Amino acid sequence: MEKKLVFSGVQPTGSLHLGNYLGALKNFVDLQKNNECIYCVVDLHAITVFQDPIELRDNILETTAAFLASGLDHKKSIIFNQSSVSGHAELAWILNCVARIGWLNRMTQFKDKAGKDREKASVGLYIYPNLMAADILLYKSTHVPVGADQKQHLELCRDIAQRFNNDFKKNIFPIPEPLIQKNISRVMSLRDGTKKMSKSDESSYSRIDLKDSADEIVKKIKKAKSDSLPIPESLSELDSKPEALNLLNIYSDLNKSTLEKTLNEMKGKDYSYLKNKLSEILIEIICPIGKKITQFLDDKNFLEKVINEGSEKANKIAQKNLKEIKNTVGFL
Ligand code: TYM
Repeated sequence: MEKKLVFSGVQPTGSLHLGNYLGALKNFVDLQKNNECIYCVVDLHAITVFQDPIELRDNILETTAAFLASGLDHKKSIIFNQSSVSGHAELAWILNCVARIGWLNRMTQFKDKAGKDREKASVGLYIYPNLMAADILLYKSTHVPVGADQKQHLELCRDIAQRFNNDFKKNIFPIPEPLIQKNISRVMSLRDGTKKMSKSDESSYSRIDLKDSADEIVKKIKKAKSDSLPIPESLSELDSKPEALNLLNIYSDLNKSTLEKTLNEMKGKDYSYLKNKLSEILIEIICPIGKKITQFLDDKNFLEKVINEGSEKANKIAQKNLKEIKNTVGFL
């Protein structure tokens, strides 16, 4: 079997949350056991929306700390920040000339983020998916672990890779496969089960942050929206109860169980029972990660060393591939 080359990225735009952990980080950690993995703190992506420079610097280190605290090992995986490898921006330009405007116009995340004020959004926000394709293709990555919200961007990346290979009649890029968690590909807001859990939600009660204390977790789960009726018997009854489904899904995933088994255990019980169990398991799994993030942040020199070493390794691969890509395009 061909070896996987895994790449993924996380934006340094604030504390990471349970959605980032269950949808992405947990999978990053599993994949590093048997594959070559490259994990990137995507600071070039972050500035598509204005970032305070001092906060951005802190957030780059905090995201690196969250990678390590979740179980990534910088000796096994390459961990670095995107802006320190110039190949990302260089390849993004080439891919800007391969991707079609019509393809970008279909991106729902741009529409959501730009909102009604589309004319005032940065050009960077619009071409953001091309930079994401560059991140992946720069390393000739074959597999990309992400949450379901990134699926459309991954499809665009595949189209760009295919188009490049066709235009230049050379198989330069592998067509990367998305790796999306089956049971919990989209962790939803604790306040509204139809919206994804997100850093940008104004209410901190909508999410569990990886740095939340045990008390905060208990409070947030207590306040989480559920349902006035007891926990139903069947999966089909959950279709119209997105908040209940979300809590049950999170619990099942943390408990390494399935939704069916969880429902069997909990049917007919009040949501307070599920909420108590959920708080317990969150405290058991998330609090140690939060503590480790704080510990890593106490040693900024170490974090800087990790990303400097990672950048050097990433740059070597990037430069080699970029040389071939530039040669293919016809640059001298
Ligand atoms: P970002 O920084 O928004 O999120 C990082 C990862 O967390 C996942 N995620 C979720 N998964 C499940 N439920 C949620 N509520 C949830 N919220 C976030 C995201 O799917 C993602 O996997 N564009 C990307 C970063 C990126 C990237 C890349 C990813 C840049 N270049 C190349 C893969 C490959 C982003 O903004 O992720």
